[in-house]
Amino acid sequence: MNFPERLAADAALCEARLMHALDGRADQPVTHAMRYALRGGKRLRGFLVLEGARMLGVAEERALSAAAAIEALHAYSLVHDDLPCMDDDDLRRGQPTVHRKWDEATAVLAGDALQTLAFELLCDPVLGTADVRMELVAGLARASGIDGMVLGQALDIAAETADRPLTLEEITALQAGKTGALIGFAAQAGAVITGADPGPLRRYAAALGLAFQIADDILDVTGDSATLGKRAQKDAAAGKATFVSLLGLDAAWSRARALVAEAEAALSPYGVRAANLRAAARFVIERES
Ligand code: IPE
Ligand code: IPE
Ligand code: MG
Ligand code: MG
Ligand code: MG
Repeated sequence: MNFPERLAADAALCEARLMHALDGRADQPVTHAMRYALRGGKRLRGFLVLEGARMLGVAEERALSAAAAIEALHAYSLVHDDLPCMDDDDLRRGQPTVHRKWDEATAVLAGDALQTLAFELLCDPVLGTADVRMELVAGLARASGIDGMVLGQALDIAAETADRPLTLEEITALQAGKTGALIGFAAQAGAVITGADPGPLRRYAAALGLAFQIADDILDVTGDSATLGKRAQKDAAAGKATFVSLLGLDAAWSRARALVAEAEAALSPYGVRAANLRAAARFVIERES
């Protein structure tokens, strides 16, 4: 299968695993909001888990709960990112955001429960021994928390009201947290499951995550809401610190292209087995949504 076929197939696998995980849960508005927030999206992080695992010889069924876990964690981060106290957005994945469709309390609780669902999924015995599952749990906790995604989000919000523009180094640190950490977990999960050296995948993900967020920032400027499925032209108005705000579009593009080359080069130990991961790196800056 080539990359677009893999991405689509893995998205369907993730969606099915996530919906199955919510079968038989309390019939509550929060549960409905969780299912709603889990639907759609590119599923790039889930794909990274599954493709990284396949490349290292792990059958996808053995890694699927980890792919679903990172997508549940990511969905939580989006529900909270869209809240009025954060980015105050009303459109996500082409639909009204959760707090618009329900209310803020439901969105906060659905995000909370999606986060705990992610850790529940990582306890699935199919993923491996207790030690493997513990390493996955600890890895996702670190990537999501105060040294990872939450730190990045905090820096992102603080930058809106900072009295000076962030430096390139500060924006890089911000983006490594808010986007890079979860992508890093996703790309390395297969190595954790097999006990392989995660080094090359860690270097791949560091470059890929940054390229991904630069593309997100470029699309905010150049994209339209209908194609993006989320409101465009919001970052400048909100005073967000991005590569585009600091360097302008052209230099942001060059940086993103250089990072994609870096990501591809990091995969050299895997040769042709990494073809789909290389294609994923090119995809993150070529995408339109
Ligand atoms: C959007 O992530 C939020 C960022 C971290 C930039 P994605 O662009 O992966 O969102 P979905 O999952 O495809 O909707
Ligand atoms: C969101 O970054 C990052 C997380 C949810 C952790 P953005 O705020 O740039 O994402 P979009 O543009 O709303 O998707
Ligand atoms: Mg944000
Ligand atoms: Mg946002
Ligand atoms: Mg954005």
